[in-house]
Amino acid sequence: MSRVVLGVCGSIAAIKLPLLVRLLRDRGHDVRVIMTHSSMQFVTPMALSVLSESPVWTPDQCEQGYVQHISWAKDADAMVVVPASANTLAKMAHGLADDPLSMTLLSYTGPIMVVPAMHDSMWLHPATQSNVLQLKNRGVHVLGPDMGALSSGDAGIGRLCEPELIADSIDWMTGPQPTLTGCRVGVIMGGTREPIDPVRLICNRSTGQLGSAIATGAVHAGAIVTVISTEPIHHPQFKEVVMVETAEAMYQSVLSRYSDFDVVIMPAAVGDYAVSTPSANKIRKTGNGLSIHLQETPDILAELGRLKTHQQLVGFCLGDGDIVTTAQSKRIQKKCDWMIANDPTQFGSAHRSGWLIGDHHVTPYHHLSPTELARLILLPLSR
Ligand SMILES: Cc1cc2nc3c(=O)[nH]c(=O)nc-3n(C[C@H](O)[C@H](O)[C@H](O)COP(=O)(O)O)c2cc1C
Repeated sequence: MSRVVLGVCGSIAAIKLPLLVRLLRDRGHDVRVIMTHSSMQFVTPMALSVLSESPVWTPDQCEQGYVQHISWAKDADAMVVVPASANTLAKMAHGLADDPLSMTLLSYTGPIMVVPAMHDSMWLHPATQSNVLQLKNRGVHVLGPDMGALSSGDAGIGRLCEPELIADSIDWMTGPQPTLTGCRVGVIMGGTREPIDPVRLICNRSTGQLGSAIATGAVHAGAIVTVISTEPIHHPQFKEVVMVETAEAMYQSVLSRYSDFDVVIMPAAVGDYAVSTPSANKIRKTGNGLSIHLQETPDILAELGRLKTHQQLVGFCLGDGDIVTTAQSKRIQKKCDWMIANDPTQFGSAHRSGWLIGDHHVTPYHHLSPTELARLILLPLSR
């Protein structure tokens, strides 16, 4: 279990903290909360204490008989400031230590993430931008802010990222860290959908969960991430998200960007067959059954292997029987650096078991969450 210290600042976005604390507890993190004085106007210490199952440290408890900021800083595996106010970002950048949160941050030597939330005018102010740059240069991870509706009624950049994404990023902070700084990564994900007629599709059970975890992890590792997906996916730090539906559209989309990628990871479930001629109108019942002619879709991974120049390529292989031998030969045939092999019973399940196969490596893995499996895949790609 990892111990996460959450610092909460004065922003209306602090109302999302109870949900975040609950998510982190559900994922097995031990959560300690430090509140700033103004944050207590937006969320109560009682709510966060109940949900974290631990006493919350507030500024009025500064007169402790021991140096709590040092002991909390020593024990933490990660510190996360959420929502991070413009004021606290400024204090962090300049090393001020006048309340429990800023004192603990200044004493802490482990990984720190800040998740800002503020009106876009505060975020875009040169003072805030220069403070954030200083923090980044010191190795602080900055998640967001997001674009969207702001509490003032305006729209712009400044929204707090969603609690799920914050929790995913905290999962990434509290384990072995892949490093992909500046590396251009393409993640191709989701199950393709082939039209039969304007209302019917041939699809599969892919959830896109693993692709989403890989893409989030790659951002956390410092990569410049493009996602080509059949499923909606969002992270304020993605370079681009390209939504596609069919295998052909996925193929065109990947190939047109391939030379710009250093790494391509392809957990997509690409249908092997598409309807040769989809009907322009909804097909009616005739009482005589229906025959549909299917044709094979392009083999995207094989094509990426064939056209490979400098890219590292990670493919996925789903099948039954001797899946390891099948995946080993597919890895060589499709010129993949790594191939992840699993059987069809794993499809769409929350935890996965299988094998990570590389040059002279066959590493079995058991019952991993999407984030854990994503970490296993990204670690050997580190540069
Ligand atoms: C209603 C209201 C909402 C606020 N929302 C934000 C916000 O979203 N982000 C921010 O940086 N400051 C916001 N502020 C200003 C901060 O609360 C203020 O700068 C405070 O000093 C921050 O203190 P702290 O960093 O110690 O939490 C808000 C103030 C009020 C009154």
